[in-house]
Amino acid sequence: MIFKHYSSYLFMKTLVTGGAGFIGSHLVDALIKNNHHVIIVDSLIDGHMENLRATLDSSFCNFLQKDIRDSDFMLNELDPVDIIYHLAADPDVRNSVSKPLNSYDHNMNGTINILEYMRKHVIQKMVFASSGGTVYGDVNQFPMTEELKLCPISPYGASKAAAEMYLSAYSHTYQMKIVSVRFANIFGERSQHGVGFDFYNKLKKDSKQLTILGDGTQQKSYLHVSDAIDAIIRVGKSLDVQEKPYEYYNVGSEEWYTVDEIAAIYEELLGLNNVTHEYSGGKRGWVGDVNKMLLSIEKIKKLGYEACVPFKDGVQLYIEWLAKQKI
Ligand SMILES: NC(=O)c1ccc[n+]([C@@H]2O[C@H](COP(=O)([O-])OP(=O)(O)OC[C@H]3O[C@@H](n4cnc5c(N)ncnc54)[C@H](O)[C@@H]3O)[C@@H](O)[C@H]2O)c1
Repeated sequence: MIFKHYSSYLFMKTLVTGGAGFIGSHLVDALIKNNHHVIIVDSLIDGHMENLRATLDSSFCNFLQKDIRDSDFMLNELDPVDIIYHLAADPDVRNSVSKPLNSYDHNMNGTINILEYMRKHVIQKMVFASSGGTVYGDVNQFPMTEELKLCPISPYGASKAAAEMYLSAYSHTYQMKIVSVRFANIFGERSQHGVGFDFYNKLKKDSKQLTILGDGTQQKSYLHVSDAIDAIIRVGKSLDVQEKPYEYYNVGSEEWYTVDEIAAIYEELLGLNNVTHEYSGGKRGWVGDVNKMLLSIEKIKKLGYEACVPFKDGVQLYIEWLAKQKI
């Protein structure tokens, strides 16, 4: 992974929630390279200490195995910081359908605790990991701009949209500057969920046949994690000059692929021929799955962001990493 340096960020005391997770651990790596002093709060419900191997020994990194839903810890034990990157969440869209209260509890109650922690210590800056793939729901306008109304169709999407409403309210009420990044599907090294992870593991087990959720025509946008980290750090830096209390940016690429096309790319890069496909059927992978998603990234481009890793190159990097894992 290539780290970019953002010079105005020297020795900021920074809280990263969910820092042992897939995206959070890459963010921690990048922040430490950019001289932040990082405090990680992660319950490890889904994260892995292995993700933090490169940074945990740094004197600029403190890891706290704690749950953001624990309001006593958040309000009475956690030291104040200069800026918060809030990524801790139950990120599983599919499971949110069978266990809707999980996403409510981690994503809504957890976020309220972060906001109360900010209010208590007069912390003014927060970057929030929202979800462009779910907060807008089913739309018929592509690419999807930030001005679309939020109309989620999954409990996960609802928890992110509801959290954004509270971010807006707190930022306006308590003189905070908060920004949400509405991510497309993020993939890459350290990811242990998503369509690519699923296809890779299925094809390793059976290189002749692949079961695909839905009818294969679902079409979405994917972004390599290195571009996601560039975006999230850019928006964090933009808080210094952000005029509105609350801002939000889509973060994605300008490419989108059907699930069938993704299967073909994985098969090609794994050197597999004549794989037969079976389909679970239906226009969606599962109940609550948005069928089509391509985010407009014109707004975040104004911060100098661009998606640098083409999808196929990102898949190649991801496959190389997966091949080295014992998952
Ligand atoms: N991966 C994507 O494609 C994607 C897309 C849109 C938004 N997001 C959002 O980005 C963030 C990071 O996603 P990810 O893919 O890295 O997921 P992840 O599961 O790898 O990371 C989430 C981390 O949060 C921790 N966590 C969960 N609940 C917690 C709690 N109550 N207290 C403390 N820690 C807790 C987990 O242990 C894990 O380490 C999440 O907020 C997710 O909703 C991800």
